[in-house]
Amino acid sequence: MFFDKVQAAPADPILGLTEEFRNDPNPNKINLGVGVYKNDQGETPVLSCVKKAEKIILDSEKTKSYLSIPGTAEYGNLVRELVFGKDSEICSEGRACTAQAPGGTGALRVGGDFLAQQKIASKIWISNPTWVNHFKVFGAAGFETAQYSYYNPATHGIDFEGMKESLRQAKPGDVVLLHGCCHNPTGIDPTAEQWEELARFTASAGLLPFFDFAYQGLGNGLNEDAQGVRIFARHHREFLVSSSFSKNFGLYNERVGAITVVSADKEESDRVFSQLKIAVRSNYSNPPAHGAKIVQTVLADPALRAEWEDEVAAMRQRIKTMRSLMVQKLQALGVNQDFSFINSQNGMFSFSGLNKEQVARLKSEFGVYIVGSGRINVAGITTGNIDALCSAIAKVL
Ligand SMILES: Cc1ncc(COP(=O)(O)O)c(C=O)c1O
Repeated sequence: MFFDKVQAAPADPILGLTEEFRNDPNPNKINLGVGVYKNDQGETPVLSCVKKAEKIILDSEKTKSYLSIPGTAEYGNLVRELVFGKDSEICSEGRACTAQAPGGTGALRVGGDFLAQQKIASKIWISNPTWVNHFKVFGAAGFETAQYSYYNPATHGIDFEGMKESLRQAKPGDVVLLHGCCHNPTGIDPTAEQWEELARFTASAGLLPFFDFAYQGLGNGLNEDAQGVRIFARHHREFLVSSSFSKNFGLYNERVGAITVVSADKEESDRVFSQLKIAVRSNYSNPPAHGAKIVQTVLADPALRAEWEDEVAAMRQRIKTMRSLMVQKLQALGVNQDFSFINSQNGMFSFSGLNKEQVARLKSEFGVYIVGSGRINVAGITTGNIDALCSAIAKVL
């Protein structure tokens, strides 16, 4: 017997919620659990720029032969430009290398494997709360994980003093994982001044920043959302950025992302790249082609790129509209609690402040599915379900 002692793993809390939602016969049920963008019809459509790029790829593709281990050089260039900006000296000096990865998750894992295999670091500081998979991904790469304070439930804002206080416990050489924008699950990002202060602090403390950049464009704009990464680039010569194109390209099931490592100079970057490729090779050998080809085609073609930027802006705008509608409607329903903080959060998620009992009642009495922490996927709210949602919330408060 080999497997008789294997214990059943607990169900993934968010995917488990989706399963429950699927089995709920309530015709008016609302799923605000899983982190997927929906349009006002409640659909997660393929972007128009993506469809056009796929046509181009279908017509021009001549082979399904392997990609190289890090994917194409052009993809790497386009990703770095998107992250650091066209005029960035990181790009012009050749100080960064990029490997295409299967989604943001794959990028985080390759980055983690690279750091662990090279014995660069063994402990990573992760925000409390965070996307729960961070613990599993970095744990699997061999990291010890620790948490830094991030959220203040009393103000529904960032606990910046607590964050600095916890990071003072970090030792030189430790890694700090930062959400580039649209913090998951709180929707709260540092201000430019706070990014600046954090960057100075982490640089002087000898900490290595690792940005998880999964929502570029869904907060305040493609460049605006990169402000944290770009401020850090002024204070740190070395850091990592994981990009995901699941949300901003709607390419969830194509698994497309990238890991970028910034080094002190070109010569160091070349050495790092050679080891990054080993981390890929020992994981999945080389990346899948289709999703990255789409991203590359769109970003490299001025017309398709302009269309993509409009489509991202439309997603971002719809989320912002739903935020302010929700605040207005709750107010109009006469709820005592002030929900205006929802307007100042960024991206798809909102920490609503709803407690476990309220979340449970929303599900059992109204068919409204929200993660137990009270995290709402604002991108799941539509003009069709917002009235039912707000009246259900008003009833459980
Ligand atoms: C903060 C964060 N990082 C990474 C990911 C993973 O993205 P991907 O689906 O591209 O692997 C997610 C997805 O929800 C996320 O919220």
